[in-house]
Amino acid sequence: MTMPVTIQDIQAMKHRGERFAALTAYDYTSAQIVDRAGVPLILVGDSLGMVILGHDTTIPVTMDEMIHHTRAAARGTRNALLVADLPFLSYQVCVERALENAGRMMQQTGCRGVKVEGGRDIGPTVKRIVDVGIPVLGHIGYTPQFAHSFGRNRVQGKDFDRGLALVRDALALQEAGAFAVVLELVPRQLAAEITARLHIPTIGIGSGVDCDGEIQVFHDVFGLYSDFRPRHTKRFAELAGQIETATREYASEVRERRFPGEAQTASMEAETLSQIRAYLDQDSYGAASAVPLR
Ligand code: KIV
Repeated sequence: MTMPVTIQDIQAMKHRGERFAALTAYDYTSAQIVDRAGVPLILVGDSLGMVILGHDTTIPVTMDEMIHHTRAAARGTRNALLVADLPFLSYQVCVERALENAGRMMQQTGCRGVKVEGGRDIGPTVKRIVDVGIPVLGHIGYTPQFAHSFGRNRVQGKDFDRGLALVRDALALQEAGAFAVVLELVPRQLAAEITARLHIPTIGIGSGVDCDGEIQVFHDVFGLYSDFRPRHTKRFAELAGQIETATREYASEVRERRFPGEAQTASMEAETLSQIRAYLDQDSYGAASAVPLR
């Protein structure tokens, strides 16, 4: 029997130099697939705002929506470490609110950790959440909840000041007790430097192969989302195209009466149908019925 992955297992992988994959999932079915494939960390990302709910950013995503999807993903996750994003403004207003929301996420969903965006600014919040026993995954670099502040400047930390600030943010998260930190769109050289300086794992997205792990969005890597195709993703399948082709085939088989066939159809004894017809023919309701029986 496989044992569920713990935060210590994730950290041990860094120390063994074993690179690992992480992936998002947002419901029972996708979590089950990712979990069965042996991915050790599943994130219910607030990217669901775009890929599931059709918003332009993650900003409209609410706690209730995150809880709803995380509960479904938890039912499909047996082994992976399931982490859920805390959405916009659920942890930034004050430490008490952050603690309440992190606690709610853990108690109501079955996830085993939460992710928050930000560096030194949220160090005290991360520490408080960790201190009550909730594992925290940090997220720095391009942090989508700040999308409107970043504008088109997606890659973060390219100049001296911002590069140094990111190293300090990563160290502050480690100091506050985060078990790992996502580095999104950080130049690969800087991501490698941060990875070497931290004893907790870094999980890159668009930040190069020197991070301890890599995370991607389910819909991006399987070709299910076409509104925006980030440069940092690679399509490992083109499922949207395959599903569309299959949908056309299904619709045409239905139109042409080729589906359902015998194998997909329920049936009954001809004798039983004759008895029903005979009964209906004598019965006043059946005789009066305007609908002819076939
Ligand atoms: O919301 C999300 O899916 C994320 C990952 C891409 C890191 O934050």
